[in-house]
Amino acid sequence: MTRQVRTAIFPVAGLGTRFLPATKATPKELLPVLDTPLIQYAVDEARDAGIERMVFVSHPSKTAIERHVMEDARLTRELRARGKESIADALSEAAFQEEDDDVRFVMQKQPKGLGHAVLCAKDHILEGPVAVILPDDLILGDVGCLSEMVEAYRSGTVGHLVATMEVPEDRVHKYGVLSVTGKNGMIVTADGMVEKPDAKDAPSRQAVVGRYILDQSIFDALATQKPGAGGEIQLTDAIARGAASLGLGGFQFSGTRFDCGSKAGMLEATLELAAADPECRTVLEQRGLSFPAGPIAA
Ligand code: UTP
Repeated sequence: MTRQVRTAIFPVAGLGTRFLPATKATPKELLPVLDTPLIQYAVDEARDAGIERMVFVSHPSKTAIERHVMEDARLTRELRARGKESIADALSEAAFQEEDDDVRFVMQKQPKGLGHAVLCAKDHILEGPVAVILPDDLILGDVGCLSEMVEAYRSGTVGHLVATMEVPEDRVHKYGVLSVTGKNGMIVTADGMVEKPDAKDAPSRQAVVGRYILDQSIFDALATQKPGAGGEIQLTDAIARGAASLGLGGFQFSGTRFDCGSKAGMLEATLELAAADPECRTVLEQRGLSFPAGPIAA
């Protein structure tokens, strides 16, 4: 069985309620950190990791996501006609080309949960394990988080590998949390995971964030998965069911993660990138702001 990760799923069909009213007409995944929408960071990360096929699980009301990720020939033509060659080149390079790139859009008509969204992609997966990327978890670092995970997965033995980071005890209730059994380099081994536990019941402080590499059997598990926390089909629950037979690992990525599904996380990500941009940095300095070093609000 191959351990090469060829497919990435981007679940982008959610309601984005925490960001209303911004997300009433604009998909959360298109909200920008500085000038780049969240979905673009996710797509770039998947490309860097060598993913061949990109599967977007979207909603009919969120067609702007497709318009963003695909080449817009009319716009690039218009930009070139106006002499804006470099902007046209940059847009073209960032976008998928209909003829050259393997991109699929699948609809999740009702937001029944992340697990259900992943299940919607089932018929579009290439052979081997599958990556799942949540665009509202922005992970910045020298090496893309998915690239690191693909490498670790290839040389490892676990069936499911999830990105994890240590969070303070008073934050565990916001995450899926691993039941840790040991550690091997950048991977913590686990025999299960729990979605959003109370601090007193949490098996560890290893919180799962939005990058996963999953054995294909996840689709069978999801097909029979009963609704869990919040009445939704939880990806966490289906992963946990396979933990004993497949092996489950938490990958402690080297980058810094920002929860861009929340206002505070989005602000932190914006400050982080602004500090690296000469024009924006001047604005921060003029206001006497100290420069951020990673997120404070996990
Ligand atoms: P979130 O729970 O962060 O997104 O899901 P949400 O539900 O859109 O946002 P809030 O909590 O109401 O503010 C993480 C990712 O999973 C997708 C979302 O679009 C987001 O990219 N998702 C979530 C789906 O595709 N379908 C779902 O049913 C739920």
